Amino acid sequence: MVSNQPSESDIVRLGVLGFGNVGAAFVQLVMQQADTIEARTGIRLEVASVAVRNLGGAREKQLARGLLTTDARAVVADPNIDLIVELIGGIDPAGELIARALANGKPVVTANKALLSQSGADLFAVSDSCGVDLLFEAAVAGGIPFVRALRESLRGEPIRRVMGIVNGTTNYILTKMTEDAADYSDALIEAQQLGFAESDPTADVDGHDAAAKAAIIASIAFGAQVIVSDVFCEGIGNITAADISIAHRLGYVVKLLAVAEQASDSRDIAVRVHPAMVPVNHPLASVRDSYNAIFIEGDAVGSLMFYGRGAGGMPTASAVLGDVIDAAVNLRKGTHADIGAFSRLPIRAVADISSQYLLGFDVADKPGVLHAITGVFARHGVSIRQAEQEGIGDDARLVFITHTARESDVQKCLQEFGDLDVVKKSLGLIRVIGE
Ligand SMILES: NC(=O)c1ccc[n+]([C@@H]2O[C@H](COP(=O)([O-])OP(=O)(O)OC[C@H]3O[C@@H](n4cnc5c(N)ncnc54)[C@H](OP(=O)(O)O)[C@@H]3O)[C@@H](O)[C@H]2O)c1
Repeated sequence: MVSNQPSESDIVRLGVLGFGNVGAAFVQLVMQQADTIEARTGIRLEVASVAVRNLGGAREKQLARGLLTTDARAVVADPNIDLIVELIGGIDPAGELIARALANGKPVVTANKALLSQSGADLFAVSDSCGVDLLFEAAVAGGIPFVRALRESLRGEPIRRVMGIVNGTTNYILTKMTEDAADYSDALIEAQQLGFAESDPTADVDGHDAAAKAAIIASIAFGAQVIVSDVFCEGIGNITAADISIAHRLGYVVKLLAVAEQASDSRDIAVRVHPAMVPVNHPLASVRDSYNAIFIEGDAVGSLMFYGRGAGGMPTASAVLGDVIDAAVNLRKGTHADIGAFSRLPIRAVADISSQYLLGFDVADKPGVLHAITGVFARHGVSIRQAEQEGIGDDARLVFITHTARESDVQKCLQEFGDLDVVKKSLGLIRVIGE
């Protein structure tokens, strides 16, 4: 007689660490999709244990009796559990739990950008030496499956640059400032009311969340050891309604970009997060509200863009489940994905990058102003691509877009502009990307 029941060797038992936004959605998705996954792969995924910090609450009703525990270490050590899904977040105890799981021969799937942007290279070395998977598709841009594309499909591609809108909160705020002419503080309050921003939005608006993701993107794109402290980071707190309106008039939108690029003449890489003026006809300019996108530029493939939901329980759980299926199949085949080596490549300081820049000044409306300002640009070898004046009299404002220039030269100009008596106020600089 033929049995429809999966044999013991076809069942992969999951230990899920964390039952929050992503963990709860993941468990729900596994339960929904288990039959389909089994039909397609021959593997039955079973949630065997779910670790949380505190028991209680409505969630015990969502899970079969006995599945919940507060002892995550016991889950990782349990010989009946085959694969660990880490959805706790943060550094401790997630890092230690992942390392223990790998050492116990269990593949791990994680969505933990904070941990990977700090000690990813070490954890990948442990997974490689233990011969089991450590997969992390959901750690950057939640539900957008671009990590696997970079790791696998684009493995042979000479990648020049990856640019991402990887933080939904800041993209929502900048969209409101652009489309509704909202002030920064009003747009932030609206984002908080709609649940797109935390009550403490610092990690998002100061760019730290995007910086962690930029470190991971650079690591995979260039096979480099990049950690979050290597990433130059500037948030959106200084972007004003005036910046947005100048950008709009000149044919740009302002976006918070995570940029990882490799120099054309060396293996040096530069990794940074900052607001940038993107031409309105660039694909990234059309990424609105809380959506995310990753734009990849390669010598052979040209340009590619991956677009979708960068956060949220279900989109993120979808990416986690894709990894879990891969890791389960690999486990049963006795193999694991090759993430590749991470070398120490020189990382360029932001002063040494080259870009185009927008600079604006409130100036005295008198003869010689333009001469004084262009003289400073000329002294530092920065050439001007576009200049315009708006307003007259006390409201006169000059705006310049430079040709590609070295950032240190532009910063020297900015310092000198502060000493000119014709400059009443410097509005700072915004980098221009994507021409
Ligand atoms: N939320 C998103 O949209 C999103 C998107 C992409 C990636 N991620 C990543 O996904 C991960 C999870 O995020 P989340 O939003 O689901 O977080 P969350 O809602 O705060 O959930 C965290 C879960 O971990 C549990 N937990 C915390 N410390 C624990 C410990 N020591 N032992 C056992 N369980 C512990 C918590 O238990 P209690 O419930 O008892 O407190 C909670 O269930 C993070 O790495 C995050 O960066 C999230």
